Amino acid sequence: MPAIVIVGTQWGDEGKGKATDLLADDVQYVVRYQGGNNAGHTIIVGDRTLKLHLVPSGVMYPHVTPVIGDGVVVDPGVLLDELDGLVAQGLDVSRLKISGNAHLIMPYHREIDALTERHLGRQKLGTTKRGIGPTYADKAARVGLRVQDLYDMKIFRQKLDAALQQKNAVLTRIYNRMPMKASDIETEYAVYAERLQPYIADTVSLLHEGLEAGENILLEGAQGTLLDLDHGTYPFVTSSNPVAGGAMTGAGLGPKHIERVIGITKAYVTRVGTGPFPTELFDATGERMTEVGHEYGTTTGRRRRVGWFDAVLARYAGRVNGLTEHFLTKLDVLSDFGTLKVCRAYRYQGEEYEHFPPHQTAFHHAEPVYEELEGWTEDITQITRYADLPKNAQAYVERLEELIGVPIRWVSVGPARSQTLDRSVA
Ligand code: IMP
Repeated sequence: MPAIVIVGTQWGDEGKGKATDLLADDVQYVVRYQGGNNAGHTIIVGDRTLKLHLVPSGVMYPHVTPVIGDGVVVDPGVLLDELDGLVAQGLDVSRLKISGNAHLIMPYHREIDALTERHLGRQKLGTTKRGIGPTYADKAARVGLRVQDLYDMKIFRQKLDAALQQKNAVLTRIYNRMPMKASDIETEYAVYAERLQPYIADTVSLLHEGLEAGENILLEGAQGTLLDLDHGTYPFVTSSNPVAGGAMTGAGLGPKHIERVIGITKAYVTRVGTGPFPTELFDATGERMTEVGHEYGTTTGRRRRVGWFDAVLARYAGRVNGLTEHFLTKLDVLSDFGTLKVCRAYRYQGEEYEHFPPHQTAFHHAEPVYEELEGWTEDITQITRYADLPKNAQAYVERLEELIGVPIRWVSVGPARSQTLDRSVA
C-alpha cells in the first residue's frame, strides 16, 4: 500500500478524522496537503477527543510521522498554540515535520481576510477569517513568505518589507486602517522561528525515502471537493485544492504513488458559509438534522447548513477525485427521520442533469429531483455488522451506492472507531 488519499466529497466536515483514525494503524506518515487552520478535525481515540486545526491527525499515533506538506498555509502562532495544547494533553509532538515550502499566514492576511469580507457585505463568502485566501493569493502573486524564510530573519525582513509596502497601502488607503509595523511582526515571528525550527524538514525527500523503504502514506485533505478552488462552487470555495490532485502537488508525490482515493461522504449534506446548496432544508427536519448531527463548526462554532443526500455531488466527486471507494459517515443521524429523500438529479429549465452542471447558473437554480426511501426507527449506534443494520438502512446505503457508482466500503454509525461497519467483512 503506497499512498492513500482521503478526501471530503461534499463541502467539508464529512468526518474525515474518523477515517484517518481507522486507517492510521497501517501507515507511517499522515500528511496534510492543503488548507490551513480553517479546517477542524475531531478525532476520538478511546475516551480521548482531540480537536485539531492544523496539525495532521497522525500526531495521535506514536508510530506515525505527521507531516505538514508544501501545499499548506501555516499560521505559526496558531500552530504553536495547538502544539502546546497537545503537549498539555500528554501527546508527544516532536515527530511533526513541516515543509519549508509551506507558506506563512501573516497578520496582514488575517486582517485583509476580515476586512474584505466586511466590505463585501451581503456578497460575502463566509470565510473563516483565518487569512487563508489572502495567503494563497500572495503565494500565487509570488510575494508570500515561506516557512523556510524563518531560517534567516534577514531575508525574512527583506521579504516582509516588500510585502508590507503593498499591504499597508491597501490597509490605509482602501480600508482606512492603521499600517502594520515591520519591526513588530519581525519580533513576533522571530520567536516563532526559534520554536519552529526543529520541526522544519525536507518533507518531499522524507516521504519519498519512506515510499522507497516500503512505508505507507496517508494524505489527509481538509475541507472538501465542492470547496476546491478549481472544481468547487466558485467563488464560494476555499483558496486551495482539496481534491485528490491537490494531494500530489501539496505533498510532492506523483500519480503513480497513489493507490487508493477514499471519498468521505456524509449520509446527508452540510455546508458552512454562503453559496448554493440545492438540497438544503429550511424546515423542522433540517433543524433536527443539525441538532442530532451536532452540526456546528469545529473551528468557528458556526451552525452548519444541512440538507438531503445529493447523488449528483457524490458522482461529481467520484470523477474529479478518481475515487476508488467511499466511507459513508453519520448514518446513525438519520435514524427515526421517517421517509428519507435522496437527490438523484437536478432539474433546470426543463432539463435533467445527472452530472454536475457545467454552468454556475444551472447549479444556483438547480431544483433537486428526489427519490423517497423508507427510513428506519431503530437506534443503530451499537450495531457492529453491516448485515445487522435494519433492512431499510441497508437499502438506503445500497441505493446511494447505485446512484453514485462507486462502492461504499465503510459505514459509520457513531463517532467512535468501533462504530464503523466494514462491508468487505462479512
Ligand atoms: P476560507 O477557507 O476561510 O477562505 O473560507 C472559504 C469557504 O470555505 C467558506 O465558505 C468557509 O466556510 C469554507 N470552509 C473553510 N474551511 C472549512 C472546513 O474545514 N469545513 C467546512 N467549510 C470550510
